[in-house]
Amino acid sequence: MTRQILVTSALPYANGAIHLGHLVEYIQTDIWVRFQKMRGHACWYVCADDTHGTPIMLRADKEGIAPEELIARVHKEHLRDFAGFHVAFDNYHSTHSEETRFFANDIYGKLKAAGLIEVRAIEQFYDPVKEMFLPDRYIKGECPKCGTPDQYGDSCESCGAAYAPTDLKNPVSAVSGAVPVRKSSDHYFFKLSDPRCQEFLRRATREVCKSQPEAVNKLQEWLGVDANEPGENKLTDWDISRDAPYFGFEIPGAPGKYFYVWLDAPIGYFGSLKHLAARTPAIDVAAFTDQAAAAQAGTELYHFVGKDILYFHALFWPAELEHAGYRIPTAVFAHGFLTVDGQKMSKSRGTFITAESYLRQGLNPEWLRYYYAAKLNATMEDIDLNLDDFIARVNSDLVGKFVNIASRCAGFIHKRFDGALAPSSSTLLSDAQAAGETIAAHYEAREYGKAVREIMALADRANQFVNDNAPWELAKQAGKDADLHRVCSEALNLFRLLTIYLKPVLPQLAADVEAFLKVAPLAWPDTAALLPGGHRIGEYKHLTTRVERKQIDALVEANRESLAPAAPPQPHSQQRHAEHQQHAEEKAAVSHISIDDFSKVDLRVARIASASHVEGAEKLIKLTLDLGTETRTVFAGIKSAYDPATLAGRLTVMVANLAPRKMKFGLSEGMVLAASGEGPGIFLLSPDSGAQPGMRVK
Ligand code: 2FM
Ligand code: ZN
Repeated sequence: MTRQILVTSALPYANGAIHLGHLVEYIQTDIWVRFQKMRGHACWYVCADDTHGTPIMLRADKEGIAPEELIARVHKEHLRDFAGFHVAFDNYHSTHSEETRFFANDIYGKLKAAGLIEVRAIEQFYDPVKEMFLPDRYIKGECPKCGTPDQYGDSCESCGAAYAPTDLKNPVSAVSGAVPVRKSSDHYFFKLSDPRCQEFLRRATREVCKSQPEAVNKLQEWLGVDANEPGENKLTDWDISRDAPYFGFEIPGAPGKYFYVWLDAPIGYFGSLKHLAARTPAIDVAAFTDQAAAAQAGTELYHFVGKDILYFHALFWPAELEHAGYRIPTAVFAHGFLTVDGQKMSKSRGTFITAESYLRQGLNPEWLRYYYAAKLNATMEDIDLNLDDFIARVNSDLVGKFVNIASRCAGFIHKRFDGALAPSSSTLLSDAQAAGETIAAHYEAREYGKAVREIMALADRANQFVNDNAPWELAKQAGKDADLHRVCSEALNLFRLLTIYLKPVLPQLAADVEAFLKVAPLAWPDTAALLPGGHRIGEYKHLTTRVERKQIDALVEANRESLAPAAPPQPHSQQRHAEHQQHAEEKAAVSHISIDDFSKVDLRVARIASASHVEGAEKLIKLTLDLGTETRTVFAGIKSAYDPATLAGRLTVMVANLAPRKMKFGLSEGMVLAASGEGPGIFLLSPDSGAQPGMRVK
């Protein structure tokens, strides 16, 4: 049966470069889509730039250009980067499009008619100079807890406290420097707390995440369906509007009010589909978007997303679709984040690697596709790009195992047999053909790591076969021509099967192999047959090279940055979530964290190697911390309680994996732990005697 499948990846913001973290998702999705197409299904992969919002408006403003110009430029850059990594969208559109506006208005209109839109006054910080409301990330001030200056409106990077922007001391607008004032205005809300939404989500959305038990657990937590609190409705209404000035779509019938990004970003998936359908007669848009038509046609819809936006895609989005008469996703597939050498990507370490820099350094994009595939599975676990392992694995698997089969056999066919193959048949070949269904099942289930292991096990067997038969020896012996011909033909047939299996991951390499073998583009059903006796192949040309250590070193060097002084960063969707929650009428009570959450904090025993006053800083002491294997500089807001002279030599505890932060006085690379209460006093933590610098606290 031919399936009709619509697949999406999350829409990247139109004001930042694509980096290796983004590529985990696009490569993961692209592999899946290519696999579905190779299986013969009608599969469409759509995406777009996420173009609306305050950060994009302000960035364009700063560059002195119109937002339209900014998003057009970024669109080109994004297309270039995706093409460079062979991410083959069927359509890459923009949320700033008439197609997206059409669906945004339609969905909003239907939700309004269903009584699920409500208007409520909200008080927020307002910049009287810029004449605009300020998102939390655009307000700075002193941390209400520890007093560290220059902290953002949602959390303190020195002490880690989370708070509302209105709690900041001496707040200023990061846009104009003006003192913000509190101002009230009407906001439009989608009533996610409505019993209809609650009832629908409890009934339907677990289905959407069913391939990921951890996601189902999250949903249960969000929906409040644990046994202990069966009746509680934890869902809060969603603020879907922003006030002018805003770059986005004005809400119909609400002058000066704009749809907030979450009411047009996911809708951009459908906008992109509609745009594609205009040039693709085979696509019936309603069959993918309309509830009744989709059910009738049996179409499927899959969203690949990062775990940080699971909430939106598994709750807000299906609730919105369902009550507007649209179809809901068949499944949402969430993945984890990328770490590099076990740590968060970091500009100062040079591991915040852009797609463009990777390509510009001349690294092969398929090396990364292969490495990610080898690491990916169907869970939301983070995946680590370990640079040593990357080099080792690409060289040993792609060069040493896969390409090696062809490079050792193809020359003999060409030179000794005029390029023509002998007929092949063997148990090894039929085993390799039979493995196709297992490998396909792994791809389908997004267990790419398992698929790759299976394929490499076959490659090992093929290499063993070549070793055992040593064609280079046969070639020297008289009367062994038929054996030489048979062995090399069989090896090349194995190589062809492996190429089919690897093609979703390595489309370019597969195309080069197709040219060399002189075959039509390979699809999955081609595993059923082998290349027959007499089939003529072309001359073998080098298929891929080894990764060299110095290439990786150069890449890291090219991406190393001394941190630029802080422009407010792009509000991350997690922050958007937090931002929203503050507007909600009832804030959910602080919930428990899991042991996994806790273990994300890398707490280490540190020896204070030196401590000094910081010129011009009222509250800070500069600490050099010895972690056994490295030293870190940390600016700690403990001056009111400690004399630097008394600190050198003592042990304390630090958070070693906190993102480094550029402060006015230098880069702070972590945080020391100290206790404080309502009264005066700050008390540094110390471990018991015997603890050594670098020991993990857990
Ligand atoms: O979190 C983000 O990167 C958003 N730009 C994602 C949007 S995904 C979808 F909803 F468009
Ligand atoms: Zn603080």
